[in-house]
Order: sequence, then structure tokens, then C-alpha cells
Amino acid sequence: MKIYEMSNQQRIDYLLEHDFIDQGQADFLAKKQPLSEDLANSLSENQIGIFGLPYGFATDFLINGKDYLVPMAIEEPSVIAAASNGAKRVKANGGFKVITSPHIMYGQIVLEGSSPELLAKLEKNKATIIESANQARQSLLKRGGGVVSLTFEKIGDDTEVLLGVNTVDAMGANIVNSMLETIAPQISELTGNDVLCAILSNSGKSQLVKVEARMKFSDLQTKQMTGQEVAQRIVRLSDFSKHSVMRAITHNKGIMNGIDAVLLATGNDFRAEEAAAHSFYSQKGYQPFSNWQIKDDQLVGTLELPIEIGSVGGAIKALPMAQLSLAIMKIDNSQELQAVIGSVGLANNLSALRALVTTGIQAGHMSLQSKSLAVSAGAQGDEITEISKQLNQIKEYTLEKASELLEKLRKQ
Ligand code: MEV
Repeated sequence: MKIYEMSNQQRIDYLLEHDFIDQGQADFLAKKQPLSEDLANSLSENQIGIFGLPYGFATDFLINGKDYLVPMAIEEPSVIAAASNGAKRVKANGGFKVITSPHIMYGQIVLEGSSPELLAKLEKNKATIIESANQARQSLLKRGGGVVSLTFEKIGDDTEVLLGVNTVDAMGANIVNSMLETIAPQISELTGNDVLCAILSNSGKSQLVKVEARMKFSDLQTKQMTGQEVAQRIVRLSDFSKHSVMRAITHNKGIMNGIDAVLLATGNDFRAEEAAAHSFYSQKGYQPFSNWQIKDDQLVGTLELPIEIGSVGGAIKALPMAQLSLAIMKIDNSQELQAVIGSVGLANNLSALRALVTTGIQAGHMSLQSKSLAVSAGAQGDEITEISKQLNQIKEYTLEKASELLEKLRKQ
């Protein structure tokens, strides 16, 4: 039986039988209580409930030679299907090849005023400031991380103190902010200048992930089009997005569909990643995150993106579902998680582009959305499958039609 044809419990059993989860994790999933009341209450203020999102997994990800099932939390019905579909085509051709970089997070202290003497004084005391920042997070040094750079620059009328920190497997927001708030008063005392603010930067420019996927033309063909035609049309649309900001935005949204879903499933800060990704491609006018070309009779896709995440600490540690997601993927470190997230982005992009240049996306989208239309119309249990089936037969995807069919069904 295909995974998408299984019941919810059968999918949990599948994960258990294939050693992706243990019995305790299977029981936890089956209980459908992702967060205890206490935890929910302590994670957010004025808490009145737990907001639900469907949680599932994409299949067929082969990344740097390792197979993954990728947990995703998302309300858009086609995203997991699109990720799996894209991943399957890449897997048949050797899988995703990913290169990651060390995990450097930056933080800024804005010091009021600037002068050559001030900059010289800061330079002279650089080693002491670095030492002090490292002392604020001694455990980081033990894990192989710590401050990797410290620079001073006049920006406008003020001075920027820019601290670069290798945060190893942590996303690093708390680490960098603690370091900055430790050294800011010391710098102020040293220079006599006031500190305007001390905060990390979500730039992500030193957390770049490069993903490559390639496939034979024959893995792209549809009933109406040869694989070569599909590949050429994908390249053409990819090129178009470099010249049209209107298109680049939507191209990138499709990539973030997959990326955000994994970020949510792993308890990562999706706002930070959105800021990092879009700003990286806005330096010289807004650009698409990925590029598709034909090389050696193959379609080759590349994606280069800052991926600002962690695999330990913060909400990732606190949220049981995030821990479960990492366990399902058997993630060893943050760079491995970055590799998975980048690959998912490119897989979703591939599926979107292939659909767009062939049948259009509505056919696939709407047939997947028929179930949620049925639920919105009030269908329950078996009624959901029946109404969805009828909507797919008549291909009229409106709430009115779903309600009308449900009324008819209940009268029968
Ligand atoms: C829909 O959520 C995402 C797409 O619009 C992406 C794209 O146009 O590339 C299909």
C-alpha cells in the first residue's frame, strides 16, 4: 500500500516498523496531544489553547547518500505531495548533493557617534572584548564554537560593532544576544559612548547552503510532453524569474513552502529564515533563490540560500514534536538539518515548475484541496472521502458545490 493511501495509524505503524520511531514515540503520536498544558502555558503569554497544523512526512529524499523521511507541518494540501514528487525524480538520479558552511551568526552593537580615535581604541581592545564575549558563553567554546570575528565600522553618524560567532548546532540567537549584552556596557565604559542597541542580525550570509539536483529528461516527461520539452520549459521559466520580480517572488514562495514546513516541524524560527533568505536575494534587485539549466542532456537545478536554523536548544528542545521530527530524520547536527531543508526547498521548486510548464497547478492542487473543501462543508468521517471523490469527478472545486453534494448524500 502507498503511504498516501494509508490511514493515520497505519502511517505511524509504518514509521515504527521501519525504525524511524520507537514505541514511545508511536504512542505519543497516536495520542494526538502535541503539547502539554504546562508547556504551552510556559512557552507563550496569555495562552488559551494549542493551535493545530497537519503534521506529515515527505518521502524519497536521498541527500548526500543518506535516505530521509522529512517531517513537515503545513496547512497547504499540495506541499508534502510536491516535495515527495520532486524528491523521487532526484533520487532516481543519485539524489541531492549539498554543501553547507560553518554556522556563523552575527550580532551588532550600535554605538552612538563615531571618530577615527574611537575606532582605533576599539581595535586596540579587540582581544579583550573577544575574550569577554567568549566568557559569557563558556560552554560554547567546549563545543568547538565561539567568537570568530569582531569588526568596527562607522555607519552613518554611529559606529557598528559587528560580532561573528560560531554557534555550532544552536541557531544562536540567545547565544549572540547574551554575548552582545555582556560586552555592550564594557564597550560603553571603555569608549565613553552610549550604546543605542545590541542585537543579533538575521542576515544569515555566513550560513550558506548549496544544493544541486540533476535528472535525465526521461524522468520529467508527461503524457503530453517529452522530458526534453519539459526541461527546456523549466529552464525558460527559471530564466524568466531572473528578469521578473513578480515571478521571482512566487518562485521563491514555492521554495519557502517546503522550507517553512520543515522549520515548523523542527521548532525552528521561520521568521528568521524568511528574513535571511529574502534579504540575501535582494542585494542587487530581487532574484530567484534557485536556477535551472540544461547540462550534458540533463536538467540541473541549484539552490544557494542562507539557512538560519539550529538542531539544539530553545524551542527545538522544548517542543516534543520538534524532537520527534529530528529523531525521524536521525539528524546529527545543524548542518545536516540545513542540507535537508535546502533539498526540500529545491524539491518543491522542481515540482512547482514542472507543473506550471505542463498541466498548470490547479489540477493537482484542487484535487488535493477537495478533502479540505469537504470538511469545510461539514462532511465527517467517510463522507469526506465520498464528497472529495465526487468533487474530483466533476472537477468543480467550490464550497457551494461541496455543500450541495453533502446535502444530497445525507438525503440518500
Ligand atoms: C503555490 O503555493 C506555490 C507556487 O505558486 C510556486 C511557483 O509558482 O513556483 C506553485
